[in-house]
Amino acid sequence: MKTRITELFGIQHPVIQGGMHYVGFAELAAAVSNAGGLGFVTGLTQKTPEDLTREIARCHDMTDKPFGVNLTFLPGFAKPPYPEYIRAIIEGGIRIVETAGRSPEVYMPQLKEAGIKVIHKCTSVCHALKAERIGCDAVSVDGFECGGHSGEDDIPSMILLPRAAEELSVPFVASGGMATGNQLVAALALGADGINMGTRFIATQEAPVHQNVKNAIVEASELDTRLIMRPLRNTERVLANVAVERILEREKSLGDAIKIDDVMAEVAGVYPKVMIEGDVEIGAWSCGMVTGLIHDIPSVQVLVDKIMTEAEYTISKRLTGLQAKE
Ligand SMILES: Cc1cc2nc3c(=O)[nH]c(=O)nc-3n(C[C@H](O)[C@H](O)[C@H](O)COP(=O)(O)O)c2cc1C
Repeated sequence: MKTRITELFGIQHPVIQGGMHYVGFAELAAAVSNAGGLGFVTGLTQKTPEDLTREIARCHDMTDKPFGVNLTFLPGFAKPPYPEYIRAIIEGGIRIVETAGRSPEVYMPQLKEAGIKVIHKCTSVCHALKAERIGCDAVSVDGFECGGHSGEDDIPSMILLPRAAEELSVPFVASGGMATGNQLVAALALGADGINMGTRFIATQEAPVHQNVKNAIVEASELDTRLIMRPLRNTERVLANVAVERILEREKSLGDAIKIDDVMAEVAGVYPKVMIEGDVEIGAWSCGMVTGLIHDIPSVQVLVDKIMTEAEYTISKRLTGLQAKE
């Protein structure tokens, strides 16, 4: 399939794996790129820029296809050495960066000078337009159903995508809730040029996370996610568990007086324990409503092939068959 996104990034299929903390290691990014999509190594999961240099080199060893690095710009209190991470990205020969969180504006000159294509992930038309204005090459538009930081506007993809199509000139991908070929076709129909997936890619053979995490995703339904940190205006969609219920109780009892420190025990430093050790109840971890559509743990190649076969069948058979015959 050929879209503005496959052309922009030089990939076979318009299917992207978004950055995921303690999931987006070289193994997953390479598997997605080898399957014809676009994989992203998650920059900040690597504790130092030197670690990121090594992870990029590992990924180059696993694939000859294009892959990128995700750089998440965290809220003010956390200050990773971004210029050094960007240097590791440039020197590692990376040509595509997915930015997320705060605006990448101050780092755009450094990225553009190095000839890097930037796709910025955001949850509103307003932020997507800003990304376009500051020179991003594409945007990943995250609907309210997405796993992770879903923003504060709560606009589901059915509205957000056609709104993005009305306003944007740069290509964009539909992110949040995506898992199937039919959804890819729906996203294309609404004006997107491809899809970005997070949660679906965790439940794959190659995702280098504990089996408990994959099983929890398969077992969960679309009713099993919760929104936490809403009173802190840092809303995150996570899988429901005992730690998440504790956070929600505290949010209810403290009301407007809540501070980030009140939820720290359940949100800070939990990813290695969840993803590597498999303790899925220890804290809050991002997960999308798309769990309702995830029933298996295929290889990445099988998953991507299935999505593309279904999409092509839906376009050429089902939709064409609906056209009224003269
Ligand atoms: C476990 C997990 C960790 C994530 N970590 C990050 C991250 O570090 N940076 C980022 O930009 N997005 C992160 N995301 C968001 C994904 O890249 C993607 O935008 C999102 O999962 C799309 O929604 P979906 O899960 O419904 O497919 C994460 C998502 C999950 C599920």
